[in-house]
Amino acid sequence: MDTLPELTARLCRISEEHFIDPFSRLQWPDSLAHDQWFMTPELISLHGTGHFDALDEKQQKVLSFFELVNFFSINIHGERMLIEGLAKRLYRRHTETVSPYLHHFLDEENKHMFYFGRFCNRYAGKIYAEKKLTIAREYVEGEEEFLFFARAMLFEEMVDIYNRRMAKDQALAALSREINWLHHFEEARHLVFGRRLVEELFESHCGAWQQEDRQRIADELVYFFDATWKEFFNPEAYKDAGLEDVYALRRKALANDAVMKKHKTHRASCARTLYKIGLLTQERMQ
Ligand SMILES: [Fe+2]
Ligand SMILES: [Fe+2]
Repeated sequence: MDTLPELTARLCRISEEHFIDPFSRLQWPDSLAHDQWFMTPELISLHGTGHFDALDEKQQKVLSFFELVNFFSINIHGERMLIEGLAKRLYRRHTETVSPYLHHFLDEENKHMFYFGRFCNRYAGKIYAEKKLTIAREYVEGEEEFLFFARAMLFEEMVDIYNRRMAKDQALAALSREINWLHHFEEARHLVFGRRLVEELFESHCGAWQQEDRQRIADELVYFFDATWKEFFNPEAYKDAGLEDVYALRRKALANDAVMKKHKTHRASCARTLYKIGLLTQERMQ
C-alpha cells in the first residue's frame, strides 16, 4: 500500500493529467423543459412512498427537477464547508505532506460549486438554503481535525451514491447526467484521499482519546450523517414541484418503512471506513 506522501503524489499527478475545464465541457441551454427526468426516480426522496406512486409521470418529472436542484444545493453547502476547512489547513505544520493535494481538492471543489450553482440559478432561479447548524465547542487533541475530514468523507460518500447512479442513467436530461458524471469522476479521487486521511488521523490520535471522547465523536458523526440525509427531504422543493401539505409530506416520508430502510443502507455504506477503524459498530447502527 502507498504511504500517504506517495498517495498524495499519485493523486496530484492524476488531477493534473485529467484536468477538466467545466466551463468549456458543459453545454448550457437557455432553459430546460420539465417534461424529462432530471433525477433517477429511485433516488427521489419520496420514492417508495404512496405519495410518489399517486403522482402521474408528468408530476414525477417536475418533482425530479426540483429534487435535483435540492441535491445540487446540498452539494454547494457541503462544498462551501469543505473549501473553508481545506483553505484553513493549507501549509499548517502537520498538513505539509498533503498540502499539494489540498490545492487540487480546493480547485476541484470550487469548479463543482460553479456548475452546481449555475444550474440552480439559471434553471430554478435559486439555491435552497442550508438547514444544518454547527455549534462551537471545545475539542480534545486531534478531535476537530478528525471530525472535519470524517464529516467531509461521509458527505462525499453520500453524494457519490447519487452521482454514480445518475452518471449512467440514459433516461436523464443530458446536462443532469453530464454534471453527475463530471462530479463522480473527480470525487472518486477525493474519496480515496479522504478515506485514507480519516484512517491515518484516527490512528495518530485515538490512543489519547478516552472512551467518552470516542463515543462523542461517533455520536457526532452519526448525527451529521442523519442531518444530511434529512436535507434530501426539502418541503420547499416539494412546494415548488406543486405538491401540497409539504411539511406533513416530509414527516410521513421520513417515517416511511422503505425510506427508513434506504437511510440505513446508505448510512452503512457511507460509514464503511468508520467501521473499519473501529469507531462505529454494525450493532450500534441498527
Ligand atoms: Fe465536489
Ligand atoms: Fe469532493
